[in-house]
Amino acid sequence: MTAFLRNSVSCGLTGIAIFSSVSSAFSAAFRYPSIITVGNSLNEFAKINFEAEDEALAMYREIIKMATELGDIETKLMFERIYSDEEKHLLFFNDLLKIEDEPSIPEADDAEWLEIFDEDYIALLNKAAAAEFSAIVQYTTQHEKTAIEKLRMKKSALEVVTDSNKASVISSMLKPIFRQEMDHLELILERIYEVGKEAIANVDPIPKVGKSTEEFITLDREAENTAILLYRKIISKAAELGDIKTKKMFEDILVDEENHYFQFDDYL
Ligand SMILES: [Fe+2]
Ligand SMILES: [Fe+2]
Repeated sequence: MTAFLRNSVSCGLTGIAIFSSVSSAFSAAFRYPSIITVGNSLNEFAKINFEAEDEALAMYREIIKMATELGDIETKLMFERIYSDEEKHLLFFNDLLKIEDEPSIPEADDAEWLEIFDEDYIALLNKAAAAEFSAIVQYTTQHEKTAIEKLRMKKSALEVVTDSNKASVISSMLKPIFRQEMDHLELILERIYEVGKEAIANVDPIPKVGKSTEEFITLDREAENTAILLYRKIISKAAELGDIKTKKMFEDILVDEENHYFQFDDYL
């Protein structure tokens, strides 16, 4: 994969999940977004998102130009479609830029029940968000990686007859799982903002993709194991603090993570 394409994947994930600004559209190194610039007003959201779309468009123009020069028509057509979506997003954020912010009103002091949401507890919830980001990047990349010819090859008569193999089965399994991780992420971020705190989105641990379906599944099973251990800790902390809503939320998420664990475990 070229540096441009790697960056475009990074940029896409950034745009989808976190509306972060990418610092340099043309930097050769593939970077996970470690600092998320979210903004504090509608006008700031619009400005940050407009800049992110603008950088993405510049990068995609370069990719389209390069793909055209190389005669890589399929990539060119794909990026032309993506480009047109991004352009619509840019125009949308451009319109929002003209909207005036609502007049700020003095903030009321936090009520006593919110005192439990201290720095350490919010850091723990942010760690959960980081684990979800990590799982999303890992599983999405693996899902797409199964398009590689080597992984698509059918090795037995049964695989040929059924037009399927382990990679295609795992690829189909990964899609609903990473969508569920996106739901988890949304729930966790919602909760952090609901109690008036800031989500410091991060990708942690660094996603590990692997080279074969065996490696995918081993790494994914380990990612679920890590998430289960972390979420157990959050559930007991939430119980200790009397934060029942967060506790119930993580209990539901934990059930999903255990199901994911067993889905991966079945293939090992
Ligand atoms: Fe999850
Ligand atoms: Fe999971």
